[in-house]
Amino acid sequence: MRPLAGPRPRVVRATLDGLVPYEPGKPVETVQRELGLDHVVKLASNEGPFGPFPEALEAIERVLAESNRYPDGGCYRLREELAGRHGVEFGEVIVAAGADAVIGYACQATLDPGDEIVTPWPSFPSYVLDPLKAGAVTARVPLREGRVDVDALLEAVTVRTKLAFLPTVNNPTGTMTPRAELHRFLDALPEHVLTVVDEAYLQYVDDPDFPDAISEAAGQGRRVLVLRTFSKIYGLAGLRVGYGVGPAEVIAAMRKVQRAFDVTTPAQEAALASLDGELELARRRAVNREAMTALEAVLRGYGFDPIAPAVGNFLYVDVGEDADTLNDNLLRRGVIVRPMGSFGAPTALRITAGTPEEIAFLAEQLAAVFSNA
Ligand SMILES: Cc1ncc(COP(=O)(O)O)c(C=O)c1O
Repeated sequence: MRPLAGPRPRVVRATLDGLVPYEPGKPVETVQRELGLDHVVKLASNEGPFGPFPEALEAIERVLAESNRYPDGGCYRLREELAGRHGVEFGEVIVAAGADAVIGYACQATLDPGDEIVTPWPSFPSYVLDPLKAGAVTARVPLREGRVDVDALLEAVTVRTKLAFLPTVNNPTGTMTPRAELHRFLDALPEHVLTVVDEAYLQYVDDPDFPDAISEAAGQGRRVLVLRTFSKIYGLAGLRVGYGVGPAEVIAAMRKVQRAFDVTTPAQEAALASLDGELELARRRAVNREAMTALEAVLRGYGFDPIAPAVGNFLYVDVGEDADTLNDNLLRRGVIVRPMGSFGAPTALRITAGTPEEIAFLAEQLAAVFSNA
């Protein structure tokens, strides 16, 4: 066929025109190289300072030499183990390359162009980006005093709404959605909406009002898809493994759009080897609580007012118009924090609770920034 005269017809979908790709926090090595710094700490991606459990490291080493083989595309053993532990059916569990991939598959499996989603905002960017990729309309419902406003979310639901995103710890504000509010929301929600309950930070929280939506909602036949991840307290963010528990027909549809081999063998084995770590989880939870207290004290010491109580492993602080300047000043001094523009909050920063040394380094650099101001 001869080339057409005139401007070429576009191949890129118009739906993507307004979409800004997810901007991850800068890696330590990049900042070191770009700014010529020896010491850099990253408090930007809510990873937590803990490595994989020793059992997970052993499992990774054991299987690395078999990397010539494709992984088990169905994640059979891990799915079966998770289903057994949560008391749900095998067909109600999907394992994917992080909770983020589960969000993507949920959107691909449910949303047609013009369908709607509701989400609190500011919140985790994928709740908006993945629906937009599918051509859906996103209703972004403002937080109330930094907290998810379940009544306002309900009001935003229409006949076209397919998905409602409900994080139990809201990233970036760190606030919790208590059990009573989760159930009030689910009780009032029309039948045609699937709620994506995001429990990425569940293991950090020891508040008795904090819900466990797998046992309290998914296991009770509610129309929810509950997300969990091994990225945070389990220390496996770099391996990419998370899962979702939800209605069998939704999971079956998500499996249809899932890439064949998206969870590597080391990721599957490390996740399996991490499942019995209750004692270590409790230790990490306690260490994180202390780090959160220390980080909050440092920020308050400089007159900031982080949103409290924050129950995950990060704090959110509105620093006003100068958020970019403060972010740049900290970056130039070797502290990577996360500016919140892409989360819908251009005047705020999110800071992850690191080790005591990392928090002390942040405190020193804040002191230097403000003594020069
Ligand atoms: C609320 C929330 N959900 C999901 C994720 C994605 O986690 P994963 O690393 O499992 O993709 C994150 C990661 O920061 C998060 O904060």
